[in-house]
Amino acid sequence: MYANSHNARAQVDISLAERSYPILIGAGLLGDASVYRQLPSASTALIVSNTSVAPLYAAQLKAVLQTRYSKVLLTTLPDGEVHKDWPTLQLIFDALLENGCDRKTVLFALGGGVVGDMTGFAAASYMRGVPFVQLPTTLLAQVDSSVGGKTAINHPLGKNMIGAFYQPQLVVCDLDVLKTLPARELSAGLAEVIKYGPIADLDFLAWIETNLDALLTQEPVAMAHAIQRSCEIKAWVVGQDEREQGLRAILNFGHTFGHAIESGLGYGEWLHGEGVGCGMVMAAHLSQRLGLIDMAFVERLTQLIKRAGLPVRGPVLSATDNAGRYLDLMRIDKKSEAGEIRFVLIDGPGKAIVRAAPDALVREVIDFCCL
Ligand code: NAD
Ligand code: GLY
Repeated sequence: MYANSHNARAQVDISLAERSYPILIGAGLLGDASVYRQLPSASTALIVSNTSVAPLYAAQLKAVLQTRYSKVLLTTLPDGEVHKDWPTLQLIFDALLENGCDRKTVLFALGGGVVGDMTGFAAASYMRGVPFVQLPTTLLAQVDSSVGGKTAINHPLGKNMIGAFYQPQLVVCDLDVLKTLPARELSAGLAEVIKYGPIADLDFLAWIETNLDALLTQEPVAMAHAIQRSCEIKAWVVGQDEREQGLRAILNFGHTFGHAIESGLGYGEWLHGEGVGCGMVMAAHLSQRLGLIDMAFVERLTQLIKRAGLPVRGPVLSATDNAGRYLDLMRIDKKSEAGEIRFVLIDGPGKAIVRAAPDALVREVIDFCCL
């Protein structure tokens, strides 16, 4: 669809029976009234954004929503992963209750994954569930976090530990909003794009290798394809396993190591995508040491992650027992079972599995991969 035009629009559908919804991808969607016509009718809309994104895009969104809702409210949260917590979540509930919002009120998450995850969790729990829309403004959120209904906040002891599965009504990926994204955030988003290759689609991995420079400069045709293909793969996975009973865990490739880095350093020190990028390198080394892939594939993946502007060496989380600290942090993971860490590993290029690994081998990988 995008071969010849960057003005074309694409749609990817999440098929989950009565919880199905479209992901719209294209330029100029945010301010297009026709995008919102399919939403349930209500008197009130609440836009949830943050102090960085609201000044850029909230006025445009508010203007278009005012053509559909008689009251359009805006709540502006503090920016940052460090604010993905209870007190910040409470600000959304404060706004809903102080403004007398009823159970038909539609929430609009305007921001990156942090705003999206928190707004989704608020929507899941306010009056036991109100409709919400994802308007992802980072690449990471467009290719991953806005899609599939995982919502959460962090706990000081573990990332995304408190949350709910709750699907949005609609996801709107406007390519134009990505133009204000800092380069470091673009790279972080590329980590989640790259992720889909080794776990599910080697042709896509090769396409990313060829088109990485175009992605780094946000060439529109390349960006649109990367977002569409990522969403298609995620839709395929989520459509089979909405609540992560099995298959969906493969989307966490790189995340077990990555979450340990994020919480071990303190939220916000490394970006989520940076943790995932480095975590994929570590998980690839673990796969290689378990005999599942060869070193050539580990090196291929490492080179791509590095070219995307992401770290490929892990930080030291403890001066006394670094590997032990990683292991302790990784045990607090939603995939862990009875204290046993379960890793997403590459089981031959293009295919992922979830399994445990001996601590000694994991220690070897951490020692090898950390600065
Ligand atoms: P983020 O939400 O913190 O956004 C990154 C930064 O970019 C923030 O400072 C934000 O204000 C700013 N920003 C956002 N859009 C912008 C724009 N258009 N122009 C300029 N600045 C902009 O981080 P993220 O990378 O989008 O998301 C990471 C979060 O997503 C993590 O909390 C992670 O756990 C979560 N996540 C969730 C899922 C899921 O399935 N729910 C999947 C992956 C990640
Ligand atoms: N980002 C992982 C998932 O949605 O399952």
